Amino acid sequence: MKSTAAVLLTSPGEFTTATVELDEPRQNEILVRLVASGMCHSDDHYATGDLRPKVLPFCGGHEGAGVVEKVGPNTEGFAVGDHVVMTFLPACGRCFWCSQGKQELCDNGAQAESGGRPEDPSSYRLSLDGKPVGQMTGLGTFNEYTVINTRSAYKVPKDVPLKYLSLLGCGVGTGYGSAVNAADVRPGHTVIVMGLGGIGSAAVQGAAHAGAANVIVVDPVEFKREVASEFGATESFATIEEAADKARHYTNGQGADSTIVTVGRLQPGDVTAAMESIRKGGTVALTAVGTFQPVATELNLGMLSMMQKTLKGVVFGNWSPFVSVPRLLDMYRSGRLKLDEMVTRTYSIDQVAQGYRDMHAGLNVRGMIDFEK
Ligand SMILES: NC(=O)c1ccc[n+]([C@@H]2O[C@H](COP(=O)([O-])OP(=O)(O)OC[C@H]3O[C@@H](n4cnc5c(N)ncnc54)[C@H](O)[C@@H]3O)[C@@H](O)[C@H]2O)c1
Ligand SMILES: [Zn+2]
Ligand SMILES: [Zn+2]
Repeated sequence: MKSTAAVLLTSPGEFTTATVELDEPRQNEILVRLVASGMCHSDDHYATGDLRPKVLPFCGGHEGAGVVEKVGPNTEGFAVGDHVVMTFLPACGRCFWCSQGKQELCDNGAQAESGGRPEDPSSYRLSLDGKPVGQMTGLGTFNEYTVINTRSAYKVPKDVPLKYLSLLGCGVGTGYGSAVNAADVRPGHTVIVMGLGGIGSAAVQGAAHAGAANVIVVDPVEFKREVASEFGATESFATIEEAADKARHYTNGQGADSTIVTVGRLQPGDVTAAMESIRKGGTVALTAVGTFQPVATELNLGMLSMMQKTLKGVVFGNWSPFVSVPRLLDMYRSGRLKLDEMVTRTYSIDQVAQGYRDMHAGLNVRGMIDFEK
């Protein structure tokens, strides 16, 4: 069947609309009609060339939700009409990591970058003019329809509107978990969140829910600083230096208990500054991405050891999507988690490039493709 998608034809390049050909779902696969897809900064890394797709054309998008339209042969657990959130990392359920409940580290995830199927990187389900089209993290949610492995799908109840649940597929699980898992925010803590996008606004909510006394947002964009309090920030600053000064003010000169780095494009200096902002025994949760290549980063290693600091990497919030999706969904249903408020603007599938221009202009906390628009 044919479907309208937003693809990169080059990298660097811009997302452009194309009519792609979609294969039938095979065993353990489902064909999903997208309802919404969040526009995470990670897709933009492939457009700017910070990260390079392994195959072009490349269909972006990894934060989607939709309705199952077809189920592959001999495929258990899904039926036509099911509502699903697509999780950006697949979980095989059987590898060393999945066996320990660390599905976010599933060995299948290593293939997520390939553009092919997570379980078979040389195989594709989309094509354009006869050429295979890669799918971001095996999903490619910038598409009216997509075929995904059931390992990347989480079935959700039908009484919760699907549109905003798409955010649970990446940004919210990642940001919220950055605070409650990686940074281990505790009641009374002073926390700095660097960057108020989709990830940062969820990190702020996680820190506030965990009982932080001070949640200090850093963002160079004035609009972000203005809206930060809606998510639970207690104050906001344009620079990390000002935020660190304020954190020291609250902690008798010690520094933040944790700093969560959720800037759009990570620069080595962000890590240096974040490490300097935390107290003895404090943690920097590093969620943002700049490149997958090694980069020189200035760190005071003497102070890292003498002050017992931790620099902690974060992927998908360091919790299994099979835990985060139902928990976050329950919090959304009971009105404690703000999802609708995260979405500043919605776009149609042919406005993806505009959505990313708006992201760069600092106009959106999160931009979202609304397929029913
Ligand atoms: N580790 C993971 O599992 C994971 C998952 C999803 C996204 N990410 C990464 O997280 C990052 C954030 O994603 P997003 O979609 O929220 O991005 P975004 O662009 O929507 O938001 C980033 C925010 O950071 C701000 N910012 C830029 N430079 C800053 C600085 N020096 N100090 C403070 N704020 C600054 C921007 O103004 C913007 O408001 C990206 O690098 C993305 O690739 C990581
Ligand atoms: Zn993402
Ligand atoms: Zn696994």
